[in-house]
Amino acid sequence: MGMKRHFLLSFGKVVFFLAFYCVGSVSASTGESIYETHCISCHGVNGDGKGGSSGLTPQPRDFTSMQSAFELDRIRIYISTTKGRKNSAMIAWESRLSREELNKVADYVYETFVAEAKAALPENLRLTLDSGEELYMDNCSVCHGDFGETGVWTRSNMATAPRNFTTDRTKGELSRKRMVDSITYGRAGKAMMPYGSRLSQEEISAIVDYVRLALMGLPPEAVLAEKAILEGSKRDESSTTGLSFSDPERYMSQPFADGIFGDPNEGREIFVRNCFVCHGVKGDGQGPRAFFINPKPRNFISTDSKRALNRPKIYTAVHGGLPGSVMPAWSKVLSDQEVANVAEFVFRAFIRGDMPGVSEEDLSKVKQKKNN
Ligand code: HEC
Ligand code: HEC
Ligand code: HEC
Repeated sequence: MGMKRHFLLSFGKVVFFLAFYCVGSVSASTGESIYETHCISCHGVNGDGKGGSSGLTPQPRDFTSMQSAFELDRIRIYISTTKGRKNSAMIAWESRLSREELNKVADYVYETFVAEAKAALPENLRLTLDSGEELYMDNCSVCHGDFGETGVWTRSNMATAPRNFTTDRTKGELSRKRMVDSITYGRAGKAMMPYGSRLSQEEISAIVDYVRLALMGLPPEAVLAEKAILEGSKRDESSTTGLSFSDPERYMSQPFADGIFGDPNEGREIFVRNCFVCHGVKGDGQGPRAFFINPKPRNFISTDSKRALNRPKIYTAVHGGLPGSVMPAWSKVLSDQEVANVAEFVFRAFIRGDMPGVSEEDLSKVKQKKNN
C-alpha cells in the first residue's frame, strides 16, 4: 500500500538532490528571479494571486491562503508547475523552464509563501492534518489516489470506482457525517470496506479533516464549523480547532443548495406518508417502527439536533440516506423538490418549532387517501 507514497517521496528526494547538485553550475538565476519573470503577472508580488491578470477563471492561486496551507506541499507545487493545471491559465512550464529552474521556483514558492501560511495555522489543527495525511497515505491512497483524484488503475478496474474527492459532485454530496459513516461502516457490496474496527474515531476524524481540507479543497471555516457541530457534544470545539464555530445563527439559517425552496405544508403530507413511522408524529424519534431499529431514528427535537440539523444537512440526509442505518435514500422515491418540501417541514416544525407539526386530522387525511 505504501509503495506509491514511497515512490513519490523518493522521486521528490531525487529531484531535490538534482536541484542541489546543479546549483551554481548551470545557471545563476534564483527562484526569486524566475518567479519575478514568469509567475508574478498572475500570482502577484506577495503570492496572493493578485498579479493584475484579473478576470481569470479559475483565479490564480493565492499561495498565502489557508487553503494553500492545506493543499500545497513542495511536491504538488513542483508537479503543478511542471505539468500545469487542466482548464486553467496555469500552463505546463516544463516546456519553458529547465528541471533545475522548475525546482528552484517551486522551492521559492513553497518557502516564501506556503510555508508561512502553514506556520500560521493553529498548532493542534496542523498536527491533526499531519496525522490525517499519513493515515490517508497508508490506508486510502491506493484506491483514492495521492491527490484524492482516484488512481487510474482503480478507476478502470473496479466494478464501482472509488470516490474521486476532487469533483464538484463529491463536494456537494459528501457531508462530514456521511464520510465518517462510510469510513466507519464501509459501503455495502462495494470495495469500500469498514474501518471502524481498525481506526479510532479520532483517526477517522483526522483523515476526514485531511480529505475535506486538503483534497476536496472545501472552505476551512465551513469544514471546521461542521466538525465542531458533529463532535461538539463530545468535545470543547474551540480547544480542538483553535477556530471556534463562531456563528451558529448563520449556520442554522442557511438555505438549501441550488436556490431550491421547500413548501413545508406540502412537506407535512410527505412526512406523514413516509417518515412518521420511524421519526414519530412529534418528531421525537418514537414512531411505531422505532422500537425495532438500531441505531434509533433521529430525535429532531433534541438539543443536539437543534444545533446540528440545518436545511442543507436535513436535505442531504433525506436525499442520500445514512449508510450504516435504516434511514433510506429518499431520492429514489421523491423528487428533489419533494425532498426540499419535507426537509423544510422537519426544519420548521421540529428543529425550529415555529409552525404546527402533525395533527390527528393530518394522520387520518393521509390514511383516507391511501385507502381510496
Ligand atoms: C497566466 C497566469 C499564470 C501564470 C503566469 C502562472 N500561473 Fe500558476 N496558476 C494560475 C492559475 C489560474 C492557477 C489556478 C489553477 C487551478 O485552480 O487549477 C494557478 C495555480 C498554480 C499553483 C497551484 C496548483 C495546484 O496544484 O492547485 C501553483 C503551485 C502555481 N500556479 C505555480 C506557478 C508558478 C511557479 C508560476 C511561474 C513559473 C506560475 N504559477 C505562473 C495562473 C498562472
Ligand atoms: C480497496 C479500495 C478502497 C480503499 C482502500 C478505500 N476506499 Fe473509499 N471507496 C472505495 C470505493 C470503490 C468507493 C465507492 C463506493 C460507492 O460508490 O458506494 C469508495 C467510497 C468512499 C467514500 C464515499 C462514500 C459515500 O458515502 O458515497 C469515502 C468518504 C471514502 N471512500 C473514504 C475512504 C477512506 C478515508 C479510506 C481510507 C481509510 C478509503 N476510502 C479506502 C474504495 C476504497
Ligand atoms: C425506516 C425508518 C426510517 C424512515 C422511514 C425514515 N428515517 Fe430518517 N432516520 C432513520 C434513522 C435510523 C436515522 C438515524 C441514523 C443514525 O443515527 O445514524 C435517521 C436520521 C434522519 C435524519 C438525521 C440526519 C443526520 O444527518 O443526522 C433526518 C433529517 C431524517 N432521518 C429525516 C427523515 C425524513 C424526512 C424521512 C421521510 C422522508 C425519514 N427520515 C424516514 C430512520 C428512518
